[in-house]
Amino acid sequence: MASEAAPSHADLVKIAENVQGRTKYRPTIGIICGSGLGGLADQVSEAETFDYKDIPGFPSSTVQGHAGKLVFGMLSGQQCVCMKGRFHPYEGYPLWKVILPVRVLHLLGVKTLIVTNAAGGLNTAFNIGDIMIINDHIDIGSLAGNNALVGPHEEQYGVRFVSMQNAYDKDLRGLAQSVVQSLGMVDFVREGVYVKVGGPSYETPAESRLLRLLGADAVGMSTTPEVIAARQCGVRVLGISLVTNIVITDTNLTGVGPTHEEVLETGRRRAKDMENLVKSFVAKLQ
Ligand code: HPA
Repeated sequence: MASEAAPSHADLVKIAENVQGRTKYRPTIGIICGSGLGGLADQVSEAETFDYKDIPGFPSSTVQGHAGKLVFGMLSGQQCVCMKGRFHPYEGYPLWKVILPVRVLHLLGVKTLIVTNAAGGLNTAFNIGDIMIINDHIDIGSLAGNNALVGPHEEQYGVRFVSMQNAYDKDLRGLAQSVVQSLGMVDFVREGVYVKVGGPSYETPAESRLLRLLGADAVGMSTTPEVIAARQCGVRVLGISLVTNIVITDTNLTGVGPTHEEVLETGRRRAKDMENLVKSFVAKLQ
C-alpha cells in the first residue's frame, strides 16, 4: 500500500461537512459494528446509507463480513450513526486511517460511541457466545510505540497526552449492566479487559498464555485505536466484545484452532442478543 500523508484536521472537517450536507440526521450516538455484527446497522429505521467509497476522503473496507457503509437513522427513538465495517491495522491501513472515522463521527456531533468487536476468550470462565462489556484494555502495539496518536498533532483533535483512565466509561458500563439485568442476560454477559494484538494470524498457544498472564480476558484485533481517538476528542465509550471462540493455550493440541468462519458463525448465533443489548442501552442513553 503506497504511503499517503495523514489528512489535516481541516480535511476531516471537509469529510464531515460533505456527509452532513447529505443527511438530515444530527446523531449524538455512534456505533461501530464489529466482525459479523453488522446486523445492528440493519436495525436502524428510516436509514440514510452512504457507502464509504462514496464519501470523499473516507477509507474503504476489504475484510469479508465487513460491508463499508455509514448508516444514519433511528434506533430506539434516538438518532444514531452506525459504521457497518471498520478498518483494521492488519488490512494494511495506517493507524491514522483506522481512527479517521472516529474523528469524523466526533465532528458530526457524536458524544457517545458504542464499539463492538469479535474476540477470543482468554478468561477460563468464559464460554463461546459470551458477551463481554469491556472495562479496560491493553494495546500491545501502543505499549511498543505504535499508538494510534503517534504522528503530527493538531490541537483541534484534543490534548496531545490523552488520559486513558475511565476510557470505558464507568457510568455507561453501569447502564449497560442494568440493561443486561433487565433483559435477563446475566448468565452470559461478563465484564473484563480486552487486549489488542496485531493479527491477522491468531495467537499461538504460548502467546495466548502470555496474554492471560497479562490479565486480559479477551483478545481481538481492533477497537483500541478507535477508543484512544475517541477519548482524545472527549467522546464517551461503551465497548462490547462477543466471545466468538476460546483461545487454545495447549501447545500440544493438533486441531486447527479458531477460523474466521467460526468467528462469523458465533456472531450470527448471538447477533440478536448483541442487538437487543445495544438497542436497549441506546434507549436509556441521555
Ligand atoms: N484472537 C484474536 N482476534 C480474534 C479472536 C482470537 O481468538 N477471535 C476473534 N477475533
